[in-house]
Order: sequence, then C-alpha cells, then structure tokens
Amino acid sequence: MKSAKAIACSNIALIKYWGKRDPILNLPQNSSLSLTLDGMTTTTTVRWETDLPEDSVSLNGNLLTGSELAKMSGFLDLVRRQADMSLKAQVVSENNFPTAAGLASSASGFAALSLAASHAAGLNLDSRELSILARQGSGSASRSIFGGFAEWRKGDRPDGLDSYAEQLMPPEAWPEIRMLVVVLEPRPKPISSRAGMTQTLETSPMYPAWLSTLEADLTAAKKALFAHDLETLGTVAEANALKMHATMITTLPTILYWQPTTVALMHRVWELRRDGLPAWFTIDAGPNVKVLTDAAHASRLAEALGNVEGVESVLICSAGPGATLC
Ligand code: DP6
Repeated sequence: MKSAKAIACSNIALIKYWGKRDPILNLPQNSSLSLTLDGMTTTTTVRWETDLPEDSVSLNGNLLTGSELAKMSGFLDLVRRQADMSLKAQVVSENNFPTAAGLASSASGFAALSLAASHAAGLNLDSRELSILARQGSGSASRSIFGGFAEWRKGDRPDGLDSYAEQLMPPEAWPEIRMLVVVLEPRPKPISSRAGMTQTLETSPMYPAWLSTLEADLTAAKKALFAHDLETLGTVAEANALKMHATMITTLPTILYWQPTTVALMHRVWELRRDGLPAWFTIDAGPNVKVLTDAAHASRLAEALGNVEGVESVLICSAGPGATLC
C-alpha cells in the first residue's frame, strides 16, 4: 500500500498550549486540553511515488514552494525515517475552512497528514504514536488525532516520547456541548503562533505567571469536564485564554491578535451572559472568537453574535471524531 487518504477535524484548546521547551521536537512548556470540532476538517491524500524527484504538496489547490514546502518535507522525512524508505510523496490536502486564520488549520492538517502518510508508508501506528508524529508537525495537531476532549500531556523527556495527547472524553459522552466559531476575517494572520510563542517566551515578563497557574487551570477544567459542569469549564477556559493573551500583549514588540470586532464580541458575550445565556469565549492566535455553549442556546447565540458589526460568519460545531482513514 503506497497511497492513503485521511480526514481529521480541527480542535480548539480550552486550556491553551503557549510556548515550547523544544522548538525542533515541538515539546511544550505546559499541558493543554481541547475540544475536537466536527465540521472543520482537513482531508489529505498521500502517495509515495517511485519516480518523484522531490515531495509535492498541494494545499487547497495551491502547490507549496520554498520554506513552506521545506517544512512539509521535513515532516515527511520523519515518516521516511520510521518506515526506512526514501520515496518522495505527493500530498494533496484540502481544508473546508479558512487556512491560517486562527482556526487551527495546522492541527487538522498535520493530524490528517500523519495518518495518511504513515499508513501509506506501511506503518501501523497506534494513536499514541500518531499523536507523537503529528505533534512534530504542529503541537496542537497531537490533540486532533482524538475525538471529543483531549489532553496533551507536556511530558518531561528530552526525546518527547512522553509528550502526546490522550482522549479524556469521547464526543458522545457530552452530546450537548457546542462551540460557535465566529469568523471575522478569513485571512492569514500577521504572525504565526510559532513566532508568537518564541517571542513571548523570550520577552514577556508575564510568561512565568502563565506557567505557574497552568496546572491549576488544567485540574479545574478536567474536574468540570467530567462533571459536565459547563459554567465552570467555560469560566476556566475564558480566563485561561485571556491569561495567554496577556503574555502576548506584554511581549516586545507587542503581539495583539485582536481586532476591534474581537473586543466587541467579548463584550457581547459578557452581555449575553448577564442576560442568562451560557456563553464563554476563547481566542487563539488570530482575531476570531470561539464561544463555548450548549445545544439549547447555540442558535440564539449564533444569531446574536452574527449581528455584531464586522462578523462574517458563525459556525456551530459539536464535538467531532478523531482522525480516520477514508
Ligand atoms: C493559541 O499548534 O499552531 O492555538 O506547534 O508551532 O505549530 P506550533 O503551534 P500551534 O499553536 C497553537 C496555539 C494556540 C493554542 C492551542 O491550540 O493550544
């Protein structure tokens, strides 16, 4: 078998990964917790070819070149090394949502690529091995191997073999959970999360404070998750996201991913909450806002948030499945 196709969903962290202890192996400073989202997917086909002079990677119909292609080839090298082969790959990958707009396209992308590339190479990796492989493409991809809620344990080993995600709860265990994805600008972000993290670690005086509260946030979020306590989970997630952004805002130079509409949405979520609706936001390395809620309130919230000036679209997502072969 030299060809395989896989699909993976994106995930949004409720407790964020921000900062690396090893930028080559993508080993994080802290553990994180995420919800895999249905409806936001990457589908990737990998063919290991005998007559290709170099890897060819197409993303949403565009052939990658230069440093982007080099990054993908570096990742494919990991698979070649594990499979002990030298064939080059033809990779065709499609997202059904905007790429690199803070919508975690690298998470679904590297999760789908890990599964398709390893399977096509004849490797039969278990989900832990897949998570370790995906992590090396993009940290957050380690979590998209799993459906529902996943925790990426940071691990301590220098070789990263104990830094992988695990499923905490399958999608069907909390069918009422919803995440609204409020899209402002379907455009590439100005600074990648990778560059943002490096700069934060190097220059933010707030970074040690972020790290010192992380384990407590994670413990509180997991307890709330297992109790299906949406209010506590949402409260911890919102505070955790704001704390992460506080570390970015205090870097030199400042990194501020928020646009005026981002802030307007934050105020609107607080207002709606004061009116009694269950809604808590989280924001990643981009201007878009994601809102945690439940099935009973999702449509009403989507309508209210969709009316905020500057919002392009609102997607309602449930807990999605893990990466699978198609
Ligand atoms: C803010 O996983 O995209 O979304 O490991 O450098 O590829 P790399 O970074 P990436 O960073 C995600 C950062 C975040 C928080 C999160 O998803 O946990």
